[in-house]
Amino acid sequence: MNWDKKLFDLKWSQDIINYDEKLKVAKKIASFVKDGDVVGVGSGSTSFLAVQEIAKRLKNEGLKILAIPTSNELKMTCSFLGIETASISEVRPDWCFDGADEVDPHGWLVKGRGGAMFNEKLIMVNSAKRYIIVDGSKFVEHICDKFPVPVECVPAALTSVKNSLSAMNVTEMNLRLAGKAKDGPVITENGNYILDVKFSDVNRNTEKDIKSIVGVVESGLFIDYNVEIIRS
Ligand code: 5RP
Repeated sequence: MNWDKKLFDLKWSQDIINYDEKLKVAKKIASFVKDGDVVGVGSGSTSFLAVQEIAKRLKNEGLKILAIPTSNELKMTCSFLGIETASISEVRPDWCFDGADEVDPHGWLVKGRGGAMFNEKLIMVNSAKRYIIVDGSKFVEHICDKFPVPVECVPAALTSVKNSLSAMNVTEMNLRLAGKAKDGPVITENGNYILDVKFSDVNRNTEKDIKSIVGVVESGLFIDYNVEIIRS
């Protein structure tokens, strides 16, 4: 016996900004799907639209894929749309797609507005082919021009991590708060906190330097991940 899949609606939690551009790029990535693919599915509203476009192709063309979602949000979306899912510990993706908050001229990325950057990085490093799907608003001259770098840290290490980050070229650092949805801090997909950190300059070593701090789980900085950028 199956549960009624309509217990919650298929809708994004806020208005999707740049909807038309995001839909365009969602359709492009959906056209890449082949029968039998194991696909790593990123998070965020562009990925959310992409999964819906993929579901349409699966239905219309009788294709089947296995999705590895990077967040609860996208896992629920796949489930709602009848797309079978598995975890990265069970299967390896043939390819993956994901959105981004910033893309610079080297193809370096900032991700993690949705708090899923650890899962997103895990999928990305295990995928032979990696696509980043973005609308025109995501392109920047320098990383950190618009968005801070999210740093996920173990709750008990928050003060210690903050202290270590302060020794880097940080211009601003804030604990991410949940806002209207919940009192207190945002809790990531893995039960941790996020510090949103602005750096005056991001270089090739910055990702490694952040990661070397005890208590840091992962950051939203993706430097040299050999991604193919698909734009609207
Ligand atoms: C979530 C992410 C998203 O991919 C990124 O925030 C882009 O989101 P959107 O497609 O909604 O603009 O990294 O952790």
